[in-house]
Amino acid sequence: MSEHALDITLTINGERIAERVDARKTLVDFLRDDLSLTGNHVGCEHGVCGACTVRVNGAIVRGCLMLAVQCDGATVETIEGLSDAGEIADLQAAFEQRNALQCGYCTPGMLVAAQDLLKRGGVPSREDIRAHLSGNYCRCTGYHAIVDAVQAVAQQRAGKKP
Ligand code: FES
Ligand code: FES
Repeated sequence: MSEHALDITLTINGERIAERVDARKTLVDFLRDDLSLTGNHVGCEHGVCGACTVRVNGAIVRGCLMLAVQCDGATVETIEGLSDAGEIADLQAAFEQRNALQCGYCTPGMLVAAQDLLKRGGVPSREDIRAHLSGNYCRCTGYHAIVDAVQAVAQQRAGKKP
């Protein structure tokens, strides 16, 4: 820990956390290294790939572009929190059923981003889904299966047959 450390208090996945953190540490490194929340991955480390996507105060952010100290007082939700709460259980099942993941490296960020779109309601078009997920890179699936899974869940949630 450097001399430039600060005390922060925040809520992560519903739990109040107080920690001393290096002022230069990114949010995703703080989550992974200090709190062992390793579901959020680190890919490019400069805001391009989306592997580090988490929610801060309800909005999705790049965990590699935000400093942990910027989250003082904030509410942070990671893939672990969304998963444990059952919020994305249908989305996770659809990804599995439709082979929307292979190595799984992009998947946590992809799920957090997809849920951000789906919680707006309605059934987005394939183009809308692609546009919303355009900041999340997948090196394995070719995206078709991911779009299929997200659209199927949107239809299920809207009470329409996929
Ligand atoms: S690791 Fe954050 S966007 Fe790639
Ligand atoms: S499943 Fe491998 S990067 Fe997306």
